[in-house]
Amino acid sequence: MDKLKITGGRPLRGEVRISGAKNAALPIMCAALLSAKPLRLRNVPLLRDVSTMAKLLGEMGVRVERSPDGEVVLDAARIVHPAASYELVKTMRASVLVLGPLLARCGEAKVSLPGGCAIGARPVDQHVKGLQAMGATISIEHGYMQASARRLRGARIVMDLVTVTGTENLMMAAALAEGETLLENAAREPEVVDLARCLSAMGAKIEGAGSDKIRIQGVPSLGGAEHRVMPDRIETGTYLAAAAAAGGKIRLTGTAPESLDATLDKLREAGARIEIHGSSIDLEIARRPGAVSVRTAPYPAFATDMQAQFMALACVADGTALITETIFENRFMHAIELQRLGADIRLEGNTAVVKGVERLQGAAVMATDLRASAGLVIAGLVAEGDTVVDRIYHLDRGYEGLEKKLSALGARVERIG
Ligand code: EPZ
Repeated sequence: MDKLKITGGRPLRGEVRISGAKNAALPIMCAALLSAKPLRLRNVPLLRDVSTMAKLLGEMGVRVERSPDGEVVLDAARIVHPAASYELVKTMRASVLVLGPLLARCGEAKVSLPGGCAIGARPVDQHVKGLQAMGATISIEHGYMQASARRLRGARIVMDLVTVTGTENLMMAAALAEGETLLENAAREPEVVDLARCLSAMGAKIEGAGSDKIRIQGVPSLGGAEHRVMPDRIETGTYLAAAAAAGGKIRLTGTAPESLDATLDKLREAGARIEIHGSSIDLEIARRPGAVSVRTAPYPAFATDMQAQFMALACVADGTALITETIFENRFMHAIELQRLGADIRLEGNTAVVKGVERLQGAAVMATDLRASAGLVIAGLVAEGDTVVDRIYHLDRGYEGLEKKLSALGARVERIG
């Protein structure tokens, strides 16, 4: 069942709960490698990528268990095989996040290079550069990064560009290094802050997470901890954009409103009424959305992981929107598919000029990556008739129970063969 059929044309109404954040859960699971004591996690989403990470860690000797009440316990008392195979790494780039922790804890690591990806080349040179600055020896052999270090030592690392997993990898490595590390031009994403919170609970000494300067005082060892993974701000933004495009009134619970200011501002600009009550967000829109232009950039600016969803919104908005992608060089694959639904989109370099149309028509489309598929689902919710999105396994990587949640909001969606 790898297709999703969406019958469009209904406003969204109702309430759903947001899951834990994929992009926080993945690095936090890798943090377990830094300690011989168990890490107990709550609010870990049930996602394909989370299962892949559990499998990857399991291959190293880490015991990963999810109890019926949803708690995930990771026990890395014994790491027998500090390596990440190409078979798993090629299915999930975030696997590179084991490199820093393995080097710091075991003094060695053999991790497959991730290779290219649908949205861009996505090299890991900044991860390697930072670890080398901390004294690691890293060579590329047969597609693998072969890394070793007797003990990493603190360093001042100025990253050439803002990288989220690069910051996370180096922050984890520095937690067990000798001396102090200063990460400059660091990523400020909320997921970086959530990881730092978990590491601090394990005994790490970290200051400045959330700013572009993070200072880490290495310690000889880390303990166990309990941590609740933050809510998924991209899942939150996706449902809000869906409601803004389809019309209606929804409530999202269990969110972190402060982590998606840029998205909420743009939705207000489109004409949505947004109210925040603690960790709940209400969105209501009674008219056709207005066209809003967005430009992706590192946090706290507008998230690249919300770009496709806002392109779908722009397809039916009143007016013309400019969607500019500055982070990934090939993140407009969904534009071609949206044109199949009758969207008016012109690509000019890293900008898409989207002229809103009165209505889209349902059609068969192909998902190319996680967020592109979310954009196609939103367009399908608005289009007349049926839209069938193929290769929805992309969605399962990052959205927990998407059909169930959309159905709870009154949408007509079903998985078909
Ligand atoms: C993280 O990817 C997220 N993934 C991505 O979410 C997200 O799109 C991205 O950050 C940007 O916000 C996870 O957290 C697991 P980057 P990451 O390193 O860390 C270049 C989703 O949909 N770069 O911040 O891999 C890179 O090519 C996913 O959930 C280098 O050149 O992204 C890109 O152009 C998709 N060298 C830019 O930096 C490096 O060593 C930013 O990438 C590292 C990155």
